[in-house]
Amino acid sequence: MKYDNTLPITERHKHGDQSSLVDRLWIEGKYLPQLSGEVLYVGVNYYTDFYHELVKDPSLFTTVDMDVKVAKYGSPYNHYVDNIEDFLEYADQYNHISVFGLFGCGHSVIKDRKVILGILNKCYDHVKDGGTIHFGTSTDILSVEDSMDMVRSSNLKDAKILSSFTCKPSQIHSEVFMFWGAKNAT
Ligand SMILES: C[S@@+](CC[C@H](N)C(=O)[O-])C[C@H]1O[C@@H](n2cnc3c(N)ncnc32)[C@H](O)[C@@H]1O
Repeated sequence: MKYDNTLPITERHKHGDQSSLVDRLWIEGKYLPQLSGEVLYVGVNYYTDFYHELVKDPSLFTTVDMDVKVAKYGSPYNHYVDNIEDFLEYADQYNHISVFGLFGCGHSVIKDRKVILGILNKCYDHVKDGGTIHFGTSTDILSVEDSMDMVRSSNLKDAKILSSFTCKPSQIHSEVFMFWGAKNAT
């Protein structure tokens, strides 16, 4: 089914199993449609394969994921198979960076708080002034307080909060922590 973004968000379900979840409704209905310019979306899967269609300029939507098996779900315009830390060593700055769904799950590759903080700081450095950063965690193995503390302990603390909330996507999901902030907003 082609994703039709003229429909109300509740009727857009491209991947009904994921797209009806509260966190996805926010990402797909509120966050991505507001992004213009160059976007870096870290981490992909089958339920993110249409995300380039939701931003203002799909051709400027870049994805990166270290797992080659999910490369087919990356942006058709720009996708890199790399660890985000290594990728940022050679990447330019972006107007918007999203780091959502990488941390806090039982199966998350990176669990070390210092490493997560390092990634957040590096991502924030790569956001252009006036741009935004989106950070979101699952709270299977991180608490909501842990996640908030990472924002407070990283350079994201300097961002102007555009949105910050927790939600429980479904009965079987643990809570999700979301943070969206603007860098040096005027
Ligand atoms: C839950 S999935 C999809 C996350 C996606 N951003 C979303 O909207 O749900 C997490 C993905 O992040 C990737 N990932 C985890 N740590 C990463 C890292 N340090 N660099 C690049 N990709 C990473 C994994 O390979 C996996 O495909």
